[in-house]
This record gives sequence, C-alpha cells and structure tokens, in this order.
Amino acid sequence: MKFHILTLFPEMIEQGLANSILGKASQREYISVEAVNIRDFTENKHKKVDDYPYGGGAGMLMQAQPVYDAYKHVLEKTQADSPRVIYLTPQGKPFTQEMAQEYAREKELIFLCGHYEGIDERVLEEIVTDYVSIGDYVLTGGELPAMVMIDAISRLVPGVLGCEESAEIETFHNHLLEYPQYTRPEEWNGKKVPQVLLGGHHANIEKWRLEQSIARTKLHRPDLYEKYALEERACEYLKKKDKVHHADMLDVIQRGTAKIFAVRPDGVLLQDKESGTYMLSVSNRDAGERLLSLVPESWGTDTFVSHQEFMNESICARFGTGSNVSVCFQAAYTRKTPIALEKAEIRPLRAEYAQTVQDHYHVIHDLSYILERMEKEELFGIFEDDKLAGFAGYHNEGSMGMLEIFEGYRRKGYARMLEAFLINHRLEEGRTPYCQIFTDNEASVKLQKKLGLRFSKELIFWLS
Ligand code: ADE
Repeated sequence: MKFHILTLFPEMIEQGLANSILGKASQREYISVEAVNIRDFTENKHKKVDDYPYGGGAGMLMQAQPVYDAYKHVLEKTQADSPRVIYLTPQGKPFTQEMAQEYAREKELIFLCGHYEGIDERVLEEIVTDYVSIGDYVLTGGELPAMVMIDAISRLVPGVLGCEESAEIETFHNHLLEYPQYTRPEEWNGKKVPQVLLGGHHANIEKWRLEQSIARTKLHRPDLYEKYALEERACEYLKKKDKVHHADMLDVIQRGTAKIFAVRPDGVLLQDKESGTYMLSVSNRDAGERLLSLVPESWGTDTFVSHQEFMNESICARFGTGSNVSVCFQAAYTRKTPIALEKAEIRPLRAEYAQTVQDHYHVIHDLSYILERMEKEELFGIFEDDKLAGFAGYHNEGSMGMLEIFEGYRRKGYARMLEAFLINHRLEEGRTPYCQIFTDNEASVKLQKKLGLRFSKELIFWLS
C-alpha cells in the first residue's frame, strides 16, 4: 500500500511515521510513505505558497498552483489509474473504522494536507475525491489527521500487524467495544484476574468476553450498541426462518456492509452498501409493504433481491424494476472444513484478461463490472500450460458465480476446481460461501450438489 502525502511539512510526516509498527512496516515494504513538499512546486520566486482571500477575512489561503503541480507530480509516479485524493478538513465525512477498511483495499492513496485557513476551492474541486474529518475539533493543519488515518489504514494491510487475528477481534468488530484484558501477575494491588480467564475453558472465556463487550458498549457507547442489537435481531430472524435461503443477507451483515432499514417480527429489509443491492425477506405482504415504504424514492441502485415471490409485483411497481426477473435457487456451503483440492493453477485475473472474460461470460456483458471485480482481486482464472481455460469469481454483493469454462477445456474437472477454490477462500475469511443458480441451469445445480452445497427450499428473485 502506497501513501503519498502532499504537505508543507514533510518532516512532520516522515518523523511521525518512522517508528514502531509503521516504521517496521515501511522497512519491510508492506507500506510506503512518501511526503511531497508542496512548496517545492511553487512558481513564486520567494517560494510563497499562500495569499490573502478574495473578499477579505482572517488569515491566508494556500494557492491552487503549487498544490495542483505537486499533485500532478505524484500522479506521474503512481501505478493506480486514478487514485483517491483525500483532503483532510473538519468539514469532511467523519472518519470511521469502516472507512479505514474500505481505504485499506486500495493500492495507493493521496492525502492533501491544508494549512492556514485552507486551500483555494478551485484546486479542491479539480483533484479531491474524498473530504474527511477525524473529529469535531479544529487542528492547525491536515498532517496529524493524515497520520491518524494512515495509522488506522496501515494496520489493516496484510502483514503489517504480523498476527492478522489482532486486527479482526477488537474494538468496533461487530460494533462492539473490546472486552477487558489482563496479564501477569494474577493479583495486583489486591485485584484479581477474573477466574474464568484462568481456567482455560475456551467456550466459557469466549462467552464471558462477549458479555463484557456487550455490557461496556451499552454503558459507554449506546449509539454503537443500537447497531449491534439491530444486526443481532436481523440475524436471529433470518437464521430462524432458513439459514440457506438467507445466506446472502447473513453474509452482507457478517462482512459489515449492511445498512439495515428495519427488523420486524415478520421481516427484514437491508441494503448492501458495497454493491447497492437491496434485499428483502418477509413472512407476509403487509410486512413487506411497510418495509418497502422505508426505502427512499431515490433509491440509488437497479437491483433488488426478493426472497418471496409474493413481493415481486410491489417491488417492481414501486421501483420500476422487473424488466429482468431472474429466478434462482440459493445454495450455501455450511460445513467448516475446506474441500480437498488437487493441484491447479488458479490465480486472480488482471485487466489484460477483461476482454476475454467479457467475450466468454454469458450472463453479464458489462466490461466495467468485470474490470471492477478484477481490481478487487475477486475474479480468478484457471490455467492449463499457462493458457486461460476458464474463470469464476465473487459478485459484488458476495455470492460465488461468474463461472465459465472455455470450449476445449470442458469435462476436465476445472469448474469443480475453481469453485472449490472459491469455497476454500471464503472459509479462510471466516465467511459462509454461497451462490445463486438459475433454476434452469441443470449443470450448475449438479455441480453445487456434488460439492456439498445445501439448497434452500424457497427460491430467490433478482429484480433488475
Ligand atoms: N484539519 C483541521 N482540523 C481537522 C480535523 N478535525 N479533521 C481533519 N482535518 C483537519
């Protein structure tokens, strides 16, 4: 992960990030931090980078020219197509752990640090993609906020923390604060370590920790607790009804990208923030209508997954979807053990294969979608003698799919290998692999059954 920081104080960034875990991560090249001095790019012979604001007012503003030229200089060196440019400002979107996770998936990021009273609006309009604040207080410049963000993002980059687990189970995981921790001695200042932690009974320890997390969150962060409780109630409803029929909705909640509109005793409506897809499951029409009324008029997506046929008409009427209804089985791999996989040459597909994929993929012909899947490293190819023989991947809402084996390479078990690979990859992430199969695709139904996926009794309907 490469960070480029446009700043008037490069030493501040260099010194601030040179030590401890991030210093090591730089040395080991898991991350790279490059501070670019905006002053080096000014055309002013006195090296000035600021001037008075038009219309009057206190303080000075940074001028557009040096900022723009420093940005252009960085662009020339980046490998990413159009890296996101984050401007640190108290007027920005409040920074969260979720945003850190999203940024950690990028390959390069550019940070723009302002000083004085800010930066000429015209250059911000020209280059900035994200306005971010680290809290409701005003600092003297953007360097500390940039460092805060770089710290939070870097520790999510694989390899930086060493033990990957420690980034997983901690504060904000599932919206809960972390449980209390203790180390030796067993008794300090008359205070004992809680008995349960000394017993070595794993399940009891987990249970105690969860209870502590919940109690702390309720007490200190009732706002977070609300989110946790809503997701718990949604999962409870969806699991009680049919875990496999709701594998898609449960996965979205588990991976932390669900915007839950409401949970009722008779239904759940959510949106996957990653793909924009809405998902609805209800036990009666009345519940469905009530939940649908919560979706804003400008609903901002073109796909809706209905889990009950009786709701399709209402969804289509309200959102104008339905010109394309795909009727699918939902199937999930509910075991915890990976599938034994013979040696196969499977690797993520890069953009150079986008055209080939588009030419062969019989369902989606949208090149930008294929490129986006490749960029996220969620589309994989299987090779024979270094020649692409087929591909499969994960859709943007999380399901496995996009499976094609090219003519001449069929009946060699490649489809099974690709899918087993996808299943094992998901299991490693601690997620439940699932897929959706057109009801008329007999070959796929056969393959899923052979791989041990369980089918839901009820169907699902993609309305787009
Ligand atoms: N620049 C000054 N104050 C800031 C803040 N709170 N967040 C981000 N950038 C800033």
